Amino acid sequence: MQICTTISEMRTVSGATRSTGKSAGLVPTMGALHEGHLSLVRAARAKCDVLVVSIFVNPTQFGPNEDLTKYPRPFTRDCELLRNEKVDFVFAPTVEEMYPPGAATFVNVQNLSDRLCGKSRPGHFRGVTTVVSKLFNIVSPDVAFFGQKDAAQVAVIRAMVRDLNFPVEIVAGPIVREPDGLAMSSRNAYLTPQQRNQALVLSRTLSRVRELYDLGERDSEHLIGAGKRTFEREPAARLDYLEIVHLDTLAPLEDSKSGALVAIAGVLGTTRLIDNIVLP
Ligand code: PAF
Repeated sequence: MQICTTISEMRTVSGATRSTGKSAGLVPTMGALHEGHLSLVRAARAKCDVLVVSIFVNPTQFGPNEDLTKYPRPFTRDCELLRNEKVDFVFAPTVEEMYPPGAATFVNVQNLSDRLCGKSRPGHFRGVTTVVSKLFNIVSPDVAFFGQKDAAQVAVIRAMVRDLNFPVEIVAGPIVREPDGLAMSSRNAYLTPQQRNQALVLSRTLSRVRELYDLGERDSEHLIGAGKRTFEREPAARLDYLEIVHLDTLAPLEDSKSGALVAIAGVLGTTRLIDNIVLP
């Protein structure tokens, strides 16, 4: 496994891959890898000839009071995990390499970027689409893999790829959960044992919505109301949002139906967690 830290090094590799006609896969990450990331890496390994995983804690997607400085960066451990998965290249640039002084161009998907997490984290998705478009330009992947846990991110990236004609297929990998239902996230590492337990309120809330949907309830307001009452039974957690939206447009749906996204974000202490389900 080769670690590339400069854009020119990475471009040489992608150029060589293209010239031999091999397919290239990219799994963009911010490191602190867990089974969710590794499931994407395995899917990418199975589908692509050459596999690149990027590790870059992207400052432009963090708000001023968010966890950029404390975000975990276990780089050596991450590389060991990726080596075990037979990854070919890790792209791990510095912030200066990706955003040299004077960098002033951003990519923004209007409207979509203001929905769900974009509402409570203004500028977050603009940072994501900017860095992902840069990664696409540097790595030139044929396929890129993202976790469905951030379903809004997947929708925003799909829209960006469509609108800017990136020749990249987007694959969304299913959410990977702990045995008790907690969705895997690098931010779970911030939770105290007590908060770790309290965080189960997110998946419990989604299960309650799903349960009522399975019983035939279709009115989104009723479903959300019932979900919120479940959430409120955990006083240590603060609800950021619980919404039922269209999977692609992220627009709220009055009537819930198959394929609708039920998305939740909640805060435990200072840790913000997200989760979602797609209605069957
Ligand atoms: O999902 C993430 O980890 C990040 O948002 C991504 C896609 C790597 C962009 O920084």
